[in-house]
Amino acid sequence: MYKIKEKKFLAEKTYLIKLFAPDIAKKAKPGNFVMLRIDEKGERIPLTIADHDFETITIIFLVVGKTTEDLSKLNKGDNLLDVVGPLGNPIKIKNYGKVVFVAGGLGIAAIYPQLKALKRENRIISIIGARKKELLFLLDEIKQFSDKLIVCTDDGSYGKKGFVTDALKEIVDKEKIDMVITIGPPVMMMAVSELTRGKVKTIASINSIMVDGIGMCGSCRVRVNNKIKFACVDGPEFDAHEVDWDELLKRNSKYKEEECKCLK
Ligand SMILES: Cc1cc2nc3c(=O)[nH]c(=O)nc-3n(C[C@H](O)[C@H](O)[C@H](O)COP(=O)(O)OP(=O)(O)OC[C@H]3O[C@@H](n4cnc5c(N)ncnc54)[C@H](O)[C@@H]3O)c2cc1C
Ligand code: FES
Repeated sequence: MYKIKEKKFLAEKTYLIKLFAPDIAKKAKPGNFVMLRIDEKGERIPLTIADHDFETITIIFLVVGKTTEDLSKLNKGDNLLDVVGPLGNPIKIKNYGKVVFVAGGLGIAAIYPQLKALKRENRIISIIGARKKELLFLLDEIKQFSDKLIVCTDDGSYGKKGFVTDALKEIVDKEKIDMVITIGPPVMMMAVSELTRGKVKTIASINSIMVDGIGMCGSCRVRVNNKIKFACVDGPEFDAHEVDWDELLKRNSKYKEEECKCLK
């Protein structure tokens, strides 16, 4: 059992939960995720370890369906049945030079541990996007570890009006960038990848559907450089220019009907 030590509402449909999980916390590195199950009837879902200390891990999630909705109803003192981790490969922390992080939606939480780790040796530009102001969160935390922060909203209710790719294009056209790291909805990452193709090395965190998270079930299969990879054990980060995005988008929407039924 994993006890909830803290729960916070961060933004519309977005919650932070701090879990008592000392064994996972001791080994967690930026880029790792956990697979969790609320109770014996629940499905297992992957969530990024957004932060950790010696005995707790922090997860930040967007309510998109049945399990994330059930998770959002839990409170301090409640328990989760299983939490497995840390899973996935951590990011390589080294001097890349000038790194641009591009994040949207749930990706905002996932970039936080990475930019915090890379800040020590790199110049960081963060581009954060959301549909509207009410969906933004962690801005102060991200600002603290960025040399420059650009916030974009589709409706212009906060920061620049437009998509993260508009802001990224302006930067890529003007300055020499050494690496782009993008985390968020696959359509956004695909657009980032098209924009930087042939110009800047780009890493994307692949959020394919995961069931076991340990390379056994094959559900997180993704085609990278024409080879089959499993996002949970070979990733979740891959060279964005080598990912077969069309196939990923199709696979991610495979269970739409069942997901809608479940939520109802
Ligand atoms: C490595 C990784 C890290 C992630 N980190 C975060 C995070 O930090 N915060 C966050 O909010 N979300 C994160 N996600 C996405 C999160 O796992 C899904 O939003 C969640 O599983 C949705 O479950 P649901 O029952 O609420 O929604 P459902 O109605 O079941 O599904 C809604 C959508 O979520 C995705 N999804 C559903 N089940 C899974 C699954 N088992 N594995 C992966 N995606 C699924 C699909 O795109 C689906 O269309 C991450 C995904 C991956 C692969
Ligand atoms: S989630 Fe089963 S192989 Fe990756």
